[in-house]
Amino acid sequence: LLAIADTTCQKSARFSARPTPVSVSGTDVPDMESFLTNRVRKAVFPVGGLGTRFLPVTKAVPKEMLPVVDKPLIQYAVEEALAAGIEEIIFVTGRGKAAIEDFFDHSFELRQVLGERGKDAELHTIDIPVLEPGRIAYTRQQDPLGLGHAVWCARELVGNEPFAVLLADDLVMADTPCLKQMVDVFDETGGNVVAVQDVPREHTNRYGILDVASDDGRLAEIKGLVEKPDPADAPSTLSIIGRYILLPEVFGYLSERKKGAGGEIQLTDSMARMIGEAPFHGLRFEGTRFDCGDKAGFFEANVAFALARTELHDQIHSVIQKYAADESC
Ligand code: UTP
Repeated sequence: LLAIADTTCQKSARFSARPTPVSVSGTDVPDMESFLTNRVRKAVFPVGGLGTRFLPVTKAVPKEMLPVVDKPLIQYAVEEALAAGIEEIIFVTGRGKAAIEDFFDHSFELRQVLGERGKDAELHTIDIPVLEPGRIAYTRQQDPLGLGHAVWCARELVGNEPFAVLLADDLVMADTPCLKQMVDVFDETGGNVVAVQDVPREHTNRYGILDVASDDGRLAEIKGLVEKPDPADAPSTLSIIGRYILLPEVFGYLSERKKGAGGEIQLTDSMARMIGEAPFHGLRFEGTRFDCGDKAGFFEANVAFALARTELHDQIHSVIQKYAADESC
């Protein structure tokens, strides 16, 4: 009987987001096991990349610690995850990334100095990223073999349940956090969900691109995925951004460690192999995405987030006007 119950749970975890009701004395109540496996409770943050596009600064500072206005990219991503109901944070780090661990820990000296000087606002700011002990776990990707490999490194910490993946260098400005929009879709459809946006056709060779089976303008049902296709071969212009909700079955494919585009173990290659096994949707999220892995995108994010801050808006606006008016720029 136990074996049968177990199989039912795994099946429902694979194909549905909803808890399976079980009958106890004639009353339907949710099975607690399937509650655990059907909610998106964990988020993986791959931060093991080399950040070569931002050398030389990334020689000593992780790309994910670069600030947009005054907060590091990784803090925006973690806050987005928490706002989507994520309970456990998993960082996949690498050599030279210790600053990320320090950032999410207490800084006793700084707390003491700020306390002595009565700087309460600043004290609050440095305490925000510190979560309850046990809610953040770290694992290390010894070699940066690609995003797919980084996600695979988190397999033991994720276990057998759906999970989110957030790439901190994709920063999203949105009224409803992007991952929350995706979790809401997952609760309806189950399966894999990725955030997508249209890109100019000449840029398809920079992204994972969808082959679309059906599309209602908001949700696209996916029948194929291609990593960085040439514009002429791209099946659409809908590109995946760095937000994913994935079923744990992806780890089985990732464990084969097959290399894809650029000689790296690509996450999209393993995701593509799950098509047909479970629902797979692309969500055109509401909001603006900034590609902060790229210098121009990172700069634009700084402008947009600074303009959105009431205390900075006027000052930044006049700086932009000054340079816009200067024809020698
Ligand atoms: P990117 O390809 O944008 O990051 O990966 P990168 O390799 O660090 O940067 P460039 O291209 O050399 O400038 C997206 C995310 O995946 C992580 C990165 O840290 C980044 O957050 N990543 C990438 C890993 O964790 N491990 C890898 O092997 C590759």
